[in-house]
Amino acid sequence: MRKVSSGGITAIYPGSFDPITNGHLDVIKRCCNLFEKVIVAVLLNAAKTPLFSTAERVRMLREATGHLKNVSVETFEGLLVDYARRKRARVIVRGIRAVSDYEYELQMALMNRRLDDSIETVFMMPAESYSYLSSRLVKEVFLLGGSVNGLVPPTVETALAKKIKR
Ligand code: PNS
Repeated sequence: MRKVSSGGITAIYPGSFDPITNGHLDVIKRCCNLFEKVIVAVLLNAAKTPLFSTAERVRMLREATGHLKNVSVETFEGLLVDYARRKRARVIVRGIRAVSDYEYELQMALMNRRLDDSIETVFMMPAESYSYLSSRLVKEVFLLGGSVNGLVPPTVETALAKKIKR
Protein backbone atom coordinates (compact mmCIF):
# COMPACT_ATOMS: atom_id res chain seq x y z
CA MET A 1 0.00 0.00 0.00
CA ARG A 2 1.22 3.52 -0.81
CA LYS A 3 2.28 5.48 2.26
CA VAL A 4 0.51 8.78 2.86
CA SER A 5 2.43 11.64 4.41
CA SER A 6 2.15 11.33 8.17
CA GLY A 7 3.79 14.64 9.00
CA GLY A 8 6.08 12.77 11.38
CA ILE A 9 3.28 11.69 13.68
CA THR A 10 3.99 9.10 16.36
CA ALA A 11 0.98 6.95 17.28
CA ILE A 12 0.52 4.78 20.34
CA TYR A 13 -1.53 1.60 20.12
CA PRO A 14 -2.20 0.65 23.76
CA GLY A 15 -3.79 -2.47 25.15
CA SER A 16 -3.54 -5.63 27.19
CA PHE A 17 -2.66 -7.88 24.22
CA ASP A 18 -3.28 -11.06 26.23
CA PRO A 19 -2.41 -12.35 23.66
CA ILE A 20 -2.01 -10.46 20.39
CA THR A 21 -4.50 -11.64 17.74
CA ASN A 22 -4.48 -11.26 13.97
CA GLY A 23 -7.06 -8.50 14.47
CA HIS A 24 -4.53 -6.49 16.51
CA LEU A 25 -1.88 -7.23 13.90
CA ASP A 26 -4.17 -6.01 11.12
CA VAL A 27 -4.67 -2.70 12.95
CA ILE A 28 -0.91 -2.37 13.55
CA LYS A 29 -0.18 -2.87 9.83
CA ARG A 30 -2.76 -0.24 8.90
CA CYS A 31 -1.14 2.16 11.40
CA CYS A 32 2.25 1.59 9.77
CA ASN A 33 0.91 3.03 6.53
CA LEU A 34 -0.46 6.13 8.24
CA PHE A 35 2.05 7.10 10.91
CA GLU A 36 5.77 7.64 10.93
CA LYS A 37 6.25 5.73 14.20
CA VAL A 38 3.92 3.25 15.86
CA ILE A 39 4.46 2.29 19.49
CA VAL A 40 2.54 -0.77 20.61
CA ALA A 41 2.21 -0.22 24.36
CA VAL A 42 1.35 -3.03 26.75
CA LEU A 43 -0.33 -1.93 29.97
CA LEU A 44 1.36 -3.10 33.16
CA ASN A 45 -1.74 -3.66 35.21
CA ALA A 46 -1.49 -5.46 38.53
CA ALA A 47 -5.29 -5.44 38.89
CA LYS A 48 -5.85 -7.77 35.95
CA THR A 49 -4.65 -11.37 36.00
CA PRO A 50 -3.52 -12.05 32.47
CA LEU A 51 -2.87 -15.52 31.06
CA PHE A 52 0.50 -14.41 29.71
CA SER A 53 3.09 -12.46 31.69
CA THR A 54 4.05 -9.01 30.46
CA ALA A 55 7.37 -10.38 29.19
CA GLU A 56 5.60 -13.12 27.25
CA ARG A 57 3.13 -10.66 25.71
CA VAL A 58 5.93 -8.29 24.71
CA ARG A 59 7.94 -11.15 23.20
CA MET A 60 4.98 -12.35 21.12
CA LEU A 61 4.21 -8.81 19.96
CA ARG A 62 7.84 -8.28 18.96
CA GLU A 63 7.93 -11.58 17.07
CA ALA A 64 4.71 -10.79 15.24
CA THR A 65 5.71 -7.22 14.31
CA GLY A 66 9.47 -7.67 13.79
CA HIS A 67 9.10 -7.27 10.01
CA LEU A 68 7.37 -3.89 10.39
CA LYS A 69 10.16 -1.35 10.47
CA ASN A 70 8.36 1.59 12.08
CA VAL A 71 6.84 -0.42 14.94
CA SER A 72 8.26 -0.74 18.44
CA VAL A 73 6.83 -2.58 21.43
CA GLU A 74 7.02 -1.15 24.93
CA THR A 75 5.25 -1.34 28.29
CA PHE A 76 3.66 1.48 30.24
CA GLU A 77 1.98 2.16 33.56
CA GLY A 78 0.02 5.07 34.89
CA LEU A 79 -2.08 7.35 32.74
CA LEU A 80 -1.95 6.69 29.01
CA VAL A 81 -1.91 10.40 28.16
CA ASP A 82 1.14 10.95 30.41
CA TYR A 83 2.93 8.13 28.63
CA ALA A 84 1.88 9.54 25.23
CA ARG A 85 3.27 12.96 26.20
CA ARG A 86 6.59 11.41 27.28
CA LYS A 87 6.78 9.67 23.90
CA ARG A 88 5.76 12.85 22.03
CA ALA A 89 2.88 10.89 20.50
CA ARG A 90 -0.05 12.97 19.24
CA VAL A 91 -2.29 10.03 18.45
CA ILE A 92 -3.76 7.14 20.42
CA VAL A 93 -5.07 4.34 18.20
CA ARG A 94 -7.86 2.02 19.25
CA GLY A 95 -9.43 -0.73 17.18
CA ILE A 96 -13.20 -0.84 16.90
CA ARG A 97 -14.82 -4.06 15.74
CA ALA A 98 -18.53 -3.54 16.24
CA VAL A 99 -20.99 -1.03 17.67
CA SER A 100 -20.69 -2.85 21.00
CA ASP A 101 -17.09 -1.61 21.33
CA TYR A 102 -18.08 1.96 20.73
CA GLU A 103 -19.53 2.99 24.08
CA TYR A 104 -16.49 1.92 26.13
CA GLU A 105 -14.10 3.35 23.56
CA LEU A 106 -15.96 6.65 23.39
CA GLN A 107 -15.82 6.97 27.18
CA MET A 108 -12.07 6.35 27.20
CA ALA A 109 -11.41 8.65 24.26
CA LEU A 110 -13.36 11.51 25.83
CA MET A 111 -11.74 11.04 29.22
CA ASN A 112 -8.31 11.03 27.58
CA ARG A 113 -9.27 14.20 25.67
CA ARG A 114 -10.33 15.82 28.93
CA LEU A 115 -6.97 14.92 30.43
CA ASP A 116 -5.04 16.18 27.41
CA ASP A 117 -6.83 17.91 24.56
CA SER A 118 -3.72 17.88 22.36
CA ILE A 119 -3.76 14.09 21.96
CA GLU A 120 -6.28 12.69 19.48
CA THR A 121 -7.79 9.21 19.64
CA VAL A 122 -8.10 7.62 16.21
CA PHE A 123 -10.41 4.63 15.81
CA MET A 124 -9.40 2.04 13.25
CA MET A 125 -11.40 -0.93 11.95
CA PRO A 126 -9.65 -4.25 11.51
CA ALA A 127 -10.46 -6.29 8.39
CA GLU A 128 -14.04 -7.53 8.60
CA SER A 129 -12.82 -11.13 8.74
CA TYR A 130 -11.54 -10.30 12.25
CA SER A 131 -14.58 -8.35 13.39
CA TYR A 132 -15.64 -11.06 15.85
CA LEU A 133 -12.15 -11.81 17.15
CA SER A 134 -10.93 -11.04 20.67
CA SER A 135 -8.12 -12.22 22.92
CA ARG A 136 -10.72 -13.49 25.39
CA LEU A 137 -12.44 -15.70 22.78
CA VAL A 138 -9.11 -17.00 21.47
CA LYS A 139 -8.19 -18.18 24.98
CA GLU A 140 -11.61 -19.73 25.57
CA VAL A 141 -11.72 -21.57 22.24
CA PHE A 142 -8.19 -22.88 22.69
CA LEU A 143 -8.87 -23.99 26.26
CA LEU A 144 -11.94 -25.92 25.13
CA GLY A 145 -10.05 -27.71 22.37
CA GLY A 146 -11.01 -25.59 19.33
CA SER A 147 -8.63 -24.45 16.61
CA VAL A 148 -7.35 -20.86 16.63
CA ASN A 149 -5.33 -21.36 13.45
CA GLY A 150 -5.47 -18.22 11.30
CA LEU A 151 -6.76 -16.13 14.20
CA VAL A 152 -3.44 -15.52 15.95
CA PRO A 153 0.19 -15.30 14.80
CA PRO A 154 2.03 -18.67 14.85
CA THR A 155 4.10 -17.59 17.89
CA VAL A 156 0.87 -17.23 19.89
CA GLU A 157 -0.41 -20.65 18.87
CA THR A 158 2.85 -22.18 20.09
CA ALA A 159 2.71 -20.20 23.34
CA LEU A 160 -0.93 -21.20 23.94
CA ALA A 161 -0.06 -24.87 23.46
CA LYS A 162 2.74 -24.55 26.04
CA LYS A 163 0.61 -22.60 28.52
CA ILE A 164 -2.67 -24.51 28.27
CA LYS A 165 -2.54 -28.29 28.50
CA ARG A 166 -5.74 -29.67 27.04
O1 PNS B 1 -6.81 -3.90 25.60
P1 PNS B 1 -7.55 -3.13 26.66
O2 PNS B 1 -7.49 -3.88 27.97
O3 PNS B 1 -8.96 -2.81 26.24
O4 PNS B 1 -6.76 -1.74 26.84
C1 PNS B 1 -7.19 -0.78 27.78
C2 PNS B 1 -6.16 0.36 27.95
C3 PNS B 1 -4.80 -0.19 28.26
C4 PNS B 1 -6.09 1.15 26.66
C5 PNS B 1 -6.69 1.28 29.10
O5 PNS B 1 -7.01 0.49 30.19
C6 PNS B 1 -5.69 2.35 29.51
O6 PNS B 1 -5.39 3.25 28.75
N1 PNS B 1 -5.17 2.27 30.76
C7 PNS B 1 -4.19 3.19 31.27
C8 PNS B 1 -4.74 3.99 32.45
C9 PNS B 1 -5.45 5.23 31.97
O7 PNS B 1 -4.91 6.08 31.31
N2 PNS B 1 -6.75 5.31 32.32
C10 PNS B 1 -7.60 6.40 31.91
C11 PNS B 1 -8.02 6.23 30.45
S1 PNS B 1 -9.67 6.59 30.22
